[in-house]
Amino acid sequence: MGAGGWIGFERYMELALYTPGLGYYARGDRQFGHLPGGPGGGSDFVTAPEMSPLFGRALARQVEQALQATGTREVWEFGAGSGALAAQLLGALGEQVERYTIVDLSGALRSRQQQTLAAFAGRVRWVDALPESLEGVVVGNEVLDAMPVALLHFDGRQWHERGVAMDDGRFAWVDRPTALRPPLDAGAVPGTTTELHRQAEAFIGTLAGTLQRGAAFFIDYGFPEAEYYHPQRTGGTLMCHRGHLADPDPLSDAGDKDITAHVNFTGVALAGQDAGLDVLGYTTQAHFLFNCGLLADLEGAGLRERTLAQKLFHEHEMGELFKVVGFSKGVEPFDALGFAHGDRSHTL
Ligand SMILES: C[S@@+](CC[C@H](N)C(=O)[O-])C[C@H]1O[C@@H](n2cnc3c(N)ncnc32)[C@H](O)[C@@H]1O
Repeated sequence: MGAGGWIGFERYMELALYTPGLGYYARGDRQFGHLPGGPGGGSDFVTAPEMSPLFGRALARQVEQALQATGTREVWEFGAGSGALAAQLLGALGEQVERYTIVDLSGALRSRQQQTLAAFAGRVRWVDALPESLEGVVVGNEVLDAMPVALLHFDGRQWHERGVAMDDGRFAWVDRPTALRPPLDAGAVPGTTTELHRQAEAFIGTLAGTLQRGAAFFIDYGFPEAEYYHPQRTGGTLMCHRGHLADPDPLSDAGDKDITAHVNFTGVALAGQDAGLDVLGYTTQAHFLFNCGLLADLEGAGLRERTLAQKLFHEHEMGELFKVVGFSKGVEPFDALGFAHGDRSHTL
């Protein structure tokens, strides 16, 4: 705990997720993977590449186009989970990818990824941090939502930063008046709690400084600023996941469950632009995957594979809530395949 026993929620979330050996993502057990009741059982949530290999196959077409448009031969993946997406992309792209680099904050998942990617061993490498410069196509699925957020609370009179202190041996919420404000204050309702995404935006800024030539695609749940900070949205988006159940209490069982917040895609796009990236497009996951040829892939799929793949684009599943934002740098911006129809950049 910091001075006075209080730490901002942003720091609490960082500790709960990334403390070596203890943090949720630093332990490397369980988390990713299987559907409830599925053969592997025991995971906490399932992500798109775990749901269906058709996710990676469709994304591969976008990556292929971006490699060609940028004249690069490397793929960089942030937060690669079980390695499923890497296997799908490498399988689809073959020798077009000279080197595939996985960047993760913790090395805890590395042995699992090494097993998944054994067939591509010569071309995959792992790094703990961004290099000084990179060229290639960057991908990140559900990485931005795992970056710590600050919490703001409006009591009707003033804004507070919400933090955590120890009370009787347990974590408890403690609010402190703050000069911090949501990026858009359209008349917050008393009692509103919301998030600030300073770390995700700083991450995009750092990536922009590092990327010399290439493109980047981030897929995640979230919405534009006007929706994120809409006065009717009073509860924020902070959520925990364990055993395929969601709960709203990050203060219990720290380290044993995922903590996540939706992404403010306006903030991400602006952070990219401010740091020299061009925005290639922004759209829903459903539009992106259709633009990348998912429907044609479905035709050849069996019933189970089809049912699972449908979750990727159904509106009430991942199709509408999940979005994709694309950037380029060091090249003429190109018409990226994934944003050919249904680009919603104007809503950012
Ligand atoms: C929700 S998981 C997603 C895993 C995988 N992409 C998937 O779709 O199954 C988030 C991952 O992002 C990683 N992560 C968070 N912040 C990161 C950062 N700044 N750089 C690299 N990886 C990061 C976490 O360690 C974790 O492995």
